[in-house]
Parts: sequence; structure tokens; C-alpha cells
Amino acid sequence: MFRQALLAASRSGGARRLVRTAPLTRGVVRRFIAGESLDDALRATETLTGAGLLVSLDVLDEAAPDEGQADVAVKRYLELLDRLSAAGLGARAEVSLKLTAVGQAFDEDRALENARRICGAARSASTTVTLDTEDHETVDSTLRVLHELRRDFPDTGVAIQAYLRRAEEFCAELAYEGSRVRLCKGAYAAPDTVAFTGKDEVDRSYVRCMKVLMAGKGYPMLATHDPRLVEIAAALAVLNEREPDDFEYQMLYGIRPHEQRRLAAQGARVRVYVAYGDEWYGYFMRRMAERPANLGFFLRSVATR
Ligand code: FDA
Repeated sequence: MFRQALLAASRSGGARRLVRTAPLTRGVVRRFIAGESLDDALRATETLTGAGLLVSLDVLDEAAPDEGQADVAVKRYLELLDRLSAAGLGARAEVSLKLTAVGQAFDEDRALENARRICGAARSASTTVTLDTEDHETVDSTLRVLHELRRDFPDTGVAIQAYLRRAEEFCAELAYEGSRVRLCKGAYAAPDTVAFTGKDEVDRSYVRCMKVLMAGKGYPMLATHDPRLVEIAAALAVLNEREPDDFEYQMLYGIRPHEQRRLAAQGARVRVYVAYGDEWYGYFMRRMAERPANLGFFLRSVATR
């Protein structure tokens, strides 16, 4: 109930204005968001990669309502990739892309064209793109775009949300040679006709999907902070004789940073998802919805300032 209310708030214009304009929220927001500027994001990337971690950078943008706004988002990604290339960070930092930011909401072909431009720039910067997966109504379109992109850019990754009832089927289809698949639990509100809604059911689905991906021929990217799932991932790596560079763990910036470093120190590949930009509200509220402790931390900081 509480999670649903926060996810509803993540889409509410009124709540958005209230939270965004409260200067008191800034400190807490900075725990999860690297900053509002590209320079902030690059500084965070240099710190993380310097500590032996990999990075995926996400430019926070609202869903583009028209071509003009989609072009603005594309420009931001091209600039980011230029700077990653100039800083020689391509081998350790890739980008994550939400197709709604580049046109999916009004024209799938336009989103594909825009994503192609971004994948081309990523290739020039010696790095890759992973498609985030958003609301359940966009999933089929995202997978169509992925398949088109992979014709020219086979290293394009995609996020699969374990809470979807079809997740295991998607993982089986995507567990082929060279296929980069990020498995996450799923962060958007979804009806129980399309998604598991109980935490245990989602966790069980995550394990089933992880088994398929780890036994498959692709490159699994296991995006979770859940200690039990991280342990199961390690056991599955042994079972499937995967070397440490045959898969990676992924976690969000600001969440379990010690665990990120602990895994990396053991020789695992660990990628940190770094979101930045001034459109942080929706991303921030999804983090609040995931964990009541995050919300408590947020409310306490507001109350004590
Ligand atoms: P969950 O939130 O159930 O937490 C499980 C356990 O993890 C907790 O009980 C606790 O032990 C530990 N934990 C969690 N948060 C913690 C915290 N703040 N501090 C300490 N411990 C904590 N979603 C989506 O729909 N589309 C996408 O494209 C992506 N992309 C993506 C990329 C990456 C790299 C990550 C890590 C996540 C995503 N997500 C996503 C978000 C994902 O779907 C999910 O909402 C969050 O990762 C939270 O789920 P967990 O697996 O961490 O489990």
C-alpha cells in the first residue's frame, strides 16, 4: 500500500513541485543522485572507477512529450559520451538509457533512431549502452527496439524486471552468446495481472531468472542490493563455472557502498548505476518506495534541519 502510494507520488505533479522546491530535501537527494551537472557525474565516476568499480551513467530526464524534448535528451547523452571518451573512461563506464526520454512515448521509430545515434557515440567512446526498462506498458516496445539495435550494436544491454510474470520467458529468450542482460526486481507500479506483487514472489522469480541467465551463454548483470540474492548469485557462478569476469553485480549509487567495494575487493566485477541531472524527482521517489528506511532517513533529515 505504502509503496503504491509513493509510486503514485512519483508520477504526481503536485508532489513533485513540493519535494523539488524544498531546499531541505537536497542533502538526502544527494545521497542517491550524483549531482545535477555532468561535471558532478564525472567526478563521481572518477571516484568510483578509481576504487575499482565500474559505472553506468543515467542522464535523468522526464519522458519526452515531443521531438524537441527528445533531441535535448539525445544531445545530453552525446555530450556525456564525448566527455567519457575524452577522459578515457570508456572501458570502465557505460551509459544507461530510458527510451521514453528519447521519444518512445510518442513514436517508437523515433526512439529507435535516437537510440542508434547514442549507441554509435558509445561505440566511438569504446563503451556500451544498456536500455533501462520502465513501466510495464513499454516493455514489448523496449524489447522490439533492443532487437533492432542489436543488429548493428550487438553489445547493447537491456534490463529485465523479475517482477514481470513473463520475466523468466524473456530471460530464456535473451540468454544467448554476447547478450548483456541486467536483471533487476522492478521499480514501477504494475497490476498483478502482469507482475508479481508480493515480495517473496518477486524474489523467487528473481532466483528463477538468475538461474536461467547464469546457466545461459549471455553476460548476466545482476542488479540487486539484496544480500540473499547476492549470495545465491555467487553460488550459481560456482555451479555454472563462471569466471569473475563472466558476469557482474550492479548496485545503485549511494546504496550499500561498502558492499560494492567488498565484492570488488574479492575480484568481482561490480557496476554502480550513477544517475544525475536536475530531473531527479521520479528516480528519487522510486528509491523511497523501495525501502521504508530510506523514507525514514529522508523525513528525519527534513525534520531536524
Ligand atoms: P529490495 O529493495 O527488495 O531490497 C532487498 C534487500 O536489499 C533489503 O532487505 C536490504 O537488505 C538490502 N537493501 C536494499 N536497499 C538498501 C539500502 N538502501 N541500504 C541497505 N540495504 C539495502 N528497475 C526497473 O524497473 N528498471 C530498470 O531499468 C532498473 N535498473 C536498475 C539498475 C540497477 C543497477 C539497479 C541496482 C537497480 C535497477 N532498478 C531498475 C531498480 C530495481 O528494480 C529495484 O527497484 C531496486 O534495485 C531495489 O531492489 P533490490 O533488488 O535492491 O531489493
